[in-house]
Amino acid sequence: MFCINKRKFFKLLPKSEKGMEEMCGIIGKVGEENVIPQLINGLKKLEYRGYDSAGVAFVEDDIINRVRAVGKISELKKKLSQEVIESRVGIGHTRWATHGSPTEENAHPHRSKNGMFYIVHNGIIENSEEIKKNLLPYNLDFESGTDTEVFAHLLEKYYDGEPVSAIAKAQAVLKGSYAFGLICKDYPDVIFGAASGSPLVVVKGENGFYIASDSGAIDEKTVEKYSVSCGEICKITSSAAEFFDPSGKAIKKQREDSQNSEDSFEKEGYAHFMLKEISEQPRAVKDTLDSLISLGGVWLPHVNIDEDFFSEILEKIVIVACGSAYHTGLVAKHIIEKLTGVPCAVEIASEFRYSHPFIDEKTLAIFVSQSGETADTLACLRLAKHCGAQIISIVNVRGSAIAKESDNVIFTKAGREIAVATTKAYSAQLAAFYALSIFIGREKGKLSEEQEEKYIEELSLLPQKIKETLETVNENAKKFAQKICKWDKVFFMGRLTDYATACEGSLKLKEISYINAQSYASGELKHGTISLVEEGTPMIAVLGESKIFSKTLSNICEVESRGAQVIVITDIAKENLLSGNRTVISVPDTLSEFRQSLLVLPLQLISYYTALLRGCDIDQPKNLAKSVTVE
Ligand code: AGP
Repeated sequence: MFCINKRKFFKLLPKSEKGMEEMCGIIGKVGEENVIPQLINGLKKLEYRGYDSAGVAFVEDDIINRVRAVGKISELKKKLSQEVIESRVGIGHTRWATHGSPTEENAHPHRSKNGMFYIVHNGIIENSEEIKKNLLPYNLDFESGTDTEVFAHLLEKYYDGEPVSAIAKAQAVLKGSYAFGLICKDYPDVIFGAASGSPLVVVKGENGFYIASDSGAIDEKTVEKYSVSCGEICKITSSAAEFFDPSGKAIKKQREDSQNSEDSFEKEGYAHFMLKEISEQPRAVKDTLDSLISLGGVWLPHVNIDEDFFSEILEKIVIVACGSAYHTGLVAKHIIEKLTGVPCAVEIASEFRYSHPFIDEKTLAIFVSQSGETADTLACLRLAKHCGAQIISIVNVRGSAIAKESDNVIFTKAGREIAVATTKAYSAQLAAFYALSIFIGREKGKLSEEQEEKYIEELSLLPQKIKETLETVNENAKKFAQKICKWDKVFFMGRLTDYATACEGSLKLKEISYINAQSYASGELKHGTISLVEEGTPMIAVLGESKIFSKTLSNICEVESRGAQVIVITDIAKENLLSGNRTVISVPDTLSEFRQSLLVLPLQLISYYTALLRGCDIDQPKNLAKSVTVE
């Protein structure tokens, strides 16, 4: 049934949920001692939200100063180290540019004309041009090309000595999504904040109060935590936090679970977070499976769907995600269809949200996201809910928007992932899909108890097999990286689930090494792409699907006879594949349903070592951000 309410649903959404959002990180602290070190550490941890430019504004002797720099936090740190700063009140920002190029003028904090307000902003003001035209003096000189600056001027316009009421009046004219942090010259011991549609938390640390886009950015033990949303306003001093509704009326807020995350922000001796996270995969997969399998059966603690739904109602499954998370869906589709007998479609969220999705109350819609904040995936989740589908989300970050808005969640236990290129979260998502497929297969009556036992037994061996694979393929991956690092293009191929892994391998390689890497379903090569193959062209073939082994092997021979140097990533006996110049990287054997968890590992390592040889910024590749909260 076509979901006819979709248009109506879009009309009902606040504009911020339809439009773009700037992906930035903000932090602010009022303490008893110098806050600059905590602002810098916090910004460093928020760099996953963008790293085009950064800045801080702080109060010293009742005067507000500002330091900004283009590039990463390290550039800002260099600038700040040239001055001796002692400040107990400061706000900071790290930016992923959407409005205005990544220059120092466009870096936050922005200020109002007379310097009464300094503000940092995460989000987007969709009607900034309208506000400029209709509400601000026509001859106002803007210092930047950002949408944020209009808010600073609006605050000054509405300010009559009371910042909370100025914020309330200013935000009443905004369209868009925002989380603001701001300092007012008349209140040098206070930070104010407001948020709607973008995350903002207030945290009481052991040594003062913070505002931040993510509580993980805060260096101290969390004593109390509150979320600010839906136009609420907050006011923090070194010893107290107050909250107000969007009109500026004082409200009481409920404290949230303030458990500190034990996830490390350190590289712990590894050269890069990506390498550390690759090596953490056995643990990530084990923890994920342990949380979903108990007493020999799959148990999904945060899924509450009536048994009847699976046995009587379920007709169709749709998986929606972006990037690597989408690739886990491509793998899962084949396993789900095999184990449950239910047709499964996999959709790219940014496409799906504007297509004509056939989803209804007989559909199970699965949303996959490491960050739980990906704008397109979140929008599709809301759409599917509106259409009456049952929802299960596979999410790594607890407390994220997708986790909060999903009726049913499977939490992956990858732990905090810092490298922009996902590895351990990817593996944990695959593990979650295995458990979910078995669960639905059993509920649907398609899988017997014996089959379930067989799968669970093999899953218990998977973490160790991942460890073994990482150890045994490492040297080969380094060698192969040397071969491909000088090439501008690399191709990947595979069929069925091998194709899904080929897609993930090529995304990983292009993302961090900037090599143009493309993946193809093997059978498609001779429908066009083979014309690009030249003497020496690197071609990585993923070959695990034994039922179509001979087909993919023929495709390998076809490209080899046109000069390609082929590397085969396989769990099939090496003797059947060695020939000529071909390189074969073998991974251990497992059940066919789970093999992509092993086949993907050499591809992660090849990408890592290739990027290393090319001198790329592996953990923070150019133009990217870890969490994609813009449409
Ligand atoms: C993968 O290495 C990427 N950085 C990217 O494709 C990512 O998987 C995608 O943006 C989806 O993110 P999410 O899992 O946080 O929703």
